[in-house]
Amino acid sequence: MKILKLLMLAAVVMIVATSCSHNSMRVKRGKAPKMLVLYYSQTSNTKTVAQEIATRLHADIEEITLVEPYDTAFQATIDRCKADREKGITPDINPLKNNVADYDVVFIGYPIWFGTYAPPIATLLDKIDLSGKTVVPFCTFGSGGLESSVKDLAARQPEATIRQGYGVRAARMDAVPKEVEDFLARNFFADGKFDMPEPFPEQHPVSADEAAIFDAAVNGYPMLNAKATAVASRTILDGDGTEYLFTAQDMRQDVNPSDSRLTSEIQVYVIVEKGKSPEFTKVVR
Ligand SMILES: Cc1cc2nc3c(=O)[nH]c(=O)nc-3n(C[C@H](O)[C@H](O)[C@H](O)COP(=O)(O)O)c2cc1C
Repeated sequence: MKILKLLMLAAVVMIVATSCSHNSMRVKRGKAPKMLVLYYSQTSNTKTVAQEIATRLHADIEEITLVEPYDTAFQATIDRCKADREKGITPDINPLKNNVADYDVVFIGYPIWFGTYAPPIATLLDKIDLSGKTVVPFCTFGSGGLESSVKDLAARQPEATIRQGYGVRAARMDAVPKEVEDFLARNFFADGKFDMPEPFPEQHPVSADEAAIFDAAVNGYPMLNAKATAVASRTILDGDGTEYLFTAQDMRQDVNPSDSRLTSEIQVYVIVEKGKSPEFTKVVR
């Protein structure tokens, strides 16, 4: 009888231990994990996020640099990317100083270019092996692209465990410190309180008031010409704000029908903080 009780106790301990390790993740238990933040940044937005993450986690940090940097002019960068794509090449990067093999967790940061990670990250991902590592993508963008870039990353490094990523609009860099703190806490990389919003309810057709919120959020962003059709909302910031998830029709004339990612129906996240104007946080295509 005593042995049976002991066996049952051992089983309970094992179940609890297994569920704990799921929740608090390998990285926080036992030996401290080694973390590296790798990033490419052309105009410093992604660098800001990278530094925020590395500082909060006391992680090593390294910038990916190009053998031949892009021209700082926007159009020249676009032209070079197009020419490289036609040749089927990505830009050469300088050798990393850190050895990725030495790390348990690798954060990879980039600006979104043409709907996915910027080409220097494609070069990087072909050079390093992330098999068995925990990989945390983060990015900055004009309107969005986290989701599609994470899919591309997973396809390029199928043996890596890719965690939920963090993305922020270039126009919302002020939000980075708080959002990164929440993001790290939510992903169990750091201690801290974080806002876990309730799930969105089902969407309903937009009312005139909701359409006005959508228009106010996207007006002023020239790359986005869309009309909201459906919406759901939830409370955020302990009641000090509302987040909306809009479905909208992309009205741009240049939506490319041959690119399956650029469908005309898009999802647009909008936040309205008490006393502030509506702003969109990301577009998912
Ligand atoms: C060549 C190029 C292509 C871009 N393509 C996109 C895009 O497809 N979607 C988007 O939301 N933003 C796009 N952007 C905007 C950048 O993602 C954004 O400005 C980012 O914050 C830049 O990061 P950085 O300062 O770290 O270089 C593009 C910018 C450049 C220069």
